[in-house]
Amino acid sequence: MPIGKWVAIGALGVVGLTSQAASIKKQPFGKTQEGKQVELYTLTNSKGIEVAIATYGGTIVSLKVPDRNGKMGDVVLGLATVKSYEHNTAYLGALIGRYGNRIGNGKFTLNGVEYKLPQNNGQATLHGGPKGFDKVMWTAKEVPNGLELTYLSADGEEGFPGNLSVKVVYTLNDDNELKMDYSATTDKDTVVNLTNHAYFNLAGEGQGDILGHVLSIHADRFTPTDAGQIPTGELKPVEGTPFDFRTPQAIGARINVQDEQLARGSGYDHNFVLNRKGVGMELAARVVEPQSGRVLEVLTTEPGIQFYSGNFLYKTKFPMRSGLCLETQHFPDSPNQPSFPTTVLRPGQVFRSRTIYRFSPSA
Ligand code: BGC
Repeated sequence: MPIGKWVAIGALGVVGLTSQAASIKKQPFGKTQEGKQVELYTLTNSKGIEVAIATYGGTIVSLKVPDRNGKMGDVVLGLATVKSYEHNTAYLGALIGRYGNRIGNGKFTLNGVEYKLPQNNGQATLHGGPKGFDKVMWTAKEVPNGLELTYLSADGEEGFPGNLSVKVVYTLNDDNELKMDYSATTDKDTVVNLTNHAYFNLAGEGQGDILGHVLSIHADRFTPTDAGQIPTGELKPVEGTPFDFRTPQAIGARINVQDEQLARGSGYDHNFVLNRKGVGMELAARVVEPQSGRVLEVLTTEPGIQFYSGNFLYKTKFPMRSGLCLETQHFPDSPNQPSFPTTVLRPGQVFRSRTIYRFSPSA
């Protein structure tokens, strides 16, 4: 619950009730090609951190946080219009589902039934298919300190079985944490893997590339891929590879070294197997931008995180590697990889996942 406190304001001596809860503002963002009205909700906390979320794709359009001198900067790559999001193929800031990252050969078998999915990335199905959760309208409801978004994905949508009822709650608190609570239920056995695809540039959108950002990932292993970027099934130690981010490393330090895995991703585009103590919230990754002093920490309940260095951003209005993604997730292609943690959801079960993006200016 929001905690209210009494304050005296300036020389007028006006006494009022302010709240430490995030405020919420709603404004029209535009219309989809089908004529649906898209709203933009802006949450602001008492520190002035501000996140704007569109009901199209549940998209984080902007996220303003202070640098070490208190100067605000938008650290998420965003677009100005609904139309530009409809045409965008980089999943900028969007919610991703039903299945984050790739499902190999656009198919999987569940309970002996083969499900064929639309292939939108070579032979693979990427991020739920051509009309994934990033390209649908979400129903919004204001909740304390946040925004609840719901979407009912019909049985058979993009090839997936079961009516999937999805809820994502974004909340912003005064500790500068943007929290995402994902939940889902189904009426038939299905698979689900939900995430958010924000591209961060902690120097600020438009302020160059992310190669000088210093990253740590709490992972001793990662999932190497084949030439089609599908995991081979191996959990490979990061030790002695350019994927070792167990100590802080500049992203650009090793991105151009001769390495088959880096070549396959055109840079970093890999799932890391998080070192976990249990099933609760744990720190997964930390990014420091030395010039601005901005720091992002990612905490999650998920077993994996996709570190994507924005290698294909040049296909958008943004330059290559001008943003980075840290997508908390189950491992890519899990429906075809029996040794990976399961992504199966059955009727009567509730899928739950939580991720926090926490911001702080560095000391
Ligand atoms: C994938 C990349 C893909 C990108 C699309 C990332 O999550 O891992 O391979 O190109 O999304 O923008």
